[in-house]
Amino acid sequence: MKIVKFWWLQSQAFYKKMHQDALELANVTMTQELHSWADIGCGTGLMSEFATQKGYLIRSFDIDRWMIRFAKIIHHHSLSNFQTTDVMQIEERFDIVSATSLLSVVDDKKAVLQKLNSLLKEKSSKLIIIEPTELLTKKNVIAFMKKTGKFYHYKHLYLWAKAREGKAVDISLFDTVAPFTHYTLFDGMVRVSVH
Ligand SMILES: C[S@@+](CC[C@H](N)C(=O)[O-])C[C@H]1O[C@@H](n2cnc3c(N)ncnc32)[C@H](O)[C@@H]1O
Repeated sequence: MKIVKFWWLQSQAFYKKMHQDALELANVTMTQELHSWADIGCGTGLMSEFATQKGYLIRSFDIDRWMIRFAKIIHHHSLSNFQTTDVMQIEERFDIVSATSLLSVVDDKKAVLQKLNSLLKEKSSKLIIIEPTELLTKKNVIAFMKKTGKFYHYKHLYLWAKAREGKAVDISLFDTVAPFTHYTLFDGMVRVSVH
């Protein structure tokens, strides 16, 4: 059931656009140089689509083997490489490391953020973290829907808020690990943190 929920969320237009906008903010451009990208806590694999479109060699990791099985089925036509692994067990290094909505579900957020940072190859690599903020509440989504007039388009943002309200990762956590630049989307309801 959890798998279907993530797949359903990842197939929503607002969720796809959120990822595309995040990559633009992080200044991720096309590459033809066999650069590597790891998406951690990949769920059903949405970020892998964007990484392959940009020419990266993508590895997608998730601790949930059923999630990975499902991701392999729906992305069977692509060059994505999915693997069941706990983030803490990954040993390789990558040019880009991304994680969407992973920190909000793990217990030791600092240890996981440190681990994500340690997966970067060199100083020129990028770590991209996309997380809901404390502003992602049902009330704020309704105000956002009224402001944009797009009730249908953002109804899934409302359901995401319902699932995530009260579970946001505090921004102060990031400074304890590395110097991040923070951007926001949807009137501050989602944060894109880039290091
Ligand atoms: C909220 S979901 C987000 C999935 C996907 N990134 C997205 O945005 O739709 C969090 C994912 O992180 C995975 N996860 C949780 N703890 C993990 C860990 N220690 N190592 C790797 N993946 C983990 C879960 O199985 C789940 O698929």
